[in-house]
Amino acid sequence: MRDTCMVERRHLLDTRYLTKEQITEILERAAFWEKNHNRALVPFAGRFVANLFFEPSTRTRFSFEVAEKQLGLHILNFSEAVSSAVKGESLYDTVKTLVSLGVEAVVIRHRDPSVIYELVEKDPGCSIVNAGAGILSHPTQALLDLYTIKQHFGEVAGLRIALIGDLSHSRVVRSNLWSLNMFGAQVIVSGPEEMRDPELERIAPYVPLDEAIKTADVVMLLRVQLERHEQKMDLTASEYHQMYGLTVERAAMMKPEAIIMHPGPFNRGVEIASELVESPQSKIFTQKANGVFVRMAVLESLLDQKGRM
Ligand code: CP
Repeated sequence: MRDTCMVERRHLLDTRYLTKEQITEILERAAFWEKNHNRALVPFAGRFVANLFFEPSTRTRFSFEVAEKQLGLHILNFSEAVSSAVKGESLYDTVKTLVSLGVEAVVIRHRDPSVIYELVEKDPGCSIVNAGAGILSHPTQALLDLYTIKQHFGEVAGLRIALIGDLSHSRVVRSNLWSLNMFGAQVIVSGPEEMRDPELERIAPYVPLDEAIKTADVVMLLRVQLERHEQKMDLTASEYHQMYGLTVERAAMMKPEAIIMHPGPFNRGVEIASELVESPQSKIFTQKANGVFVRMAVLESLLDQKGRM
């Protein structure tokens, strides 16, 4: 997969297929765009991209759209319900059609983790950006998380980063593991017993909740993804919060310099106490803002380089 994806820099499938140098370049360009996004630099003016979201999204979809507009791109927004997908058109034929209309890159989120990967193999003739593939991967989320951590601490190597919550259903945790490990972070995981994932724990050790919160430099909460659960959760939201959430009492045990992160959407009063979402230690809304700059850098790296300034 690596040969056809990132080496030619035509697609973004997951952080695991990126080299440290490629990620570093994306983070550097994101920093450039953080400083310059209001300067009316529109390196890709008049060129077309399409956003295809087969699953709900607020942050990823709109931050890609802002990033695309900042780069001067024309945007086609696809809606499954009113597209010919409902008449049985395949994703490959849909994307091939868009390419024939002039689209150079498609940003895709899909509930089935294999669909985006299969599309890359079939090669419809444009760049493909993974905006969330089932429970498997969400590379731009991991890149913006890395950017936010680096922005705050200056250096990622040596930081202890706790990923806490619904581990078995989280695409964010998977993409984050590759990039955080690559940059030398010490990643630990924690959460309810029934949401543990043995595969993940081969890469990042499981640590009891209070110990994880007390010792981490970054406490990253993960949403309970009820829509992906095959069995109904026995706990109420309030019981989950008391047993496994970042309560105000648990947050008081954090290191004073530690930060709170959450990819969103967050459930106030479930995995995180409502008053902590906008607390001084929280970087949650900084993550959202950084998503635009990182996605500008990703799109720029996939479209040709002529527009660079
Ligand atoms: N973090 C994230 O992917 O949020 P959305 O589902 O709103 O895009």
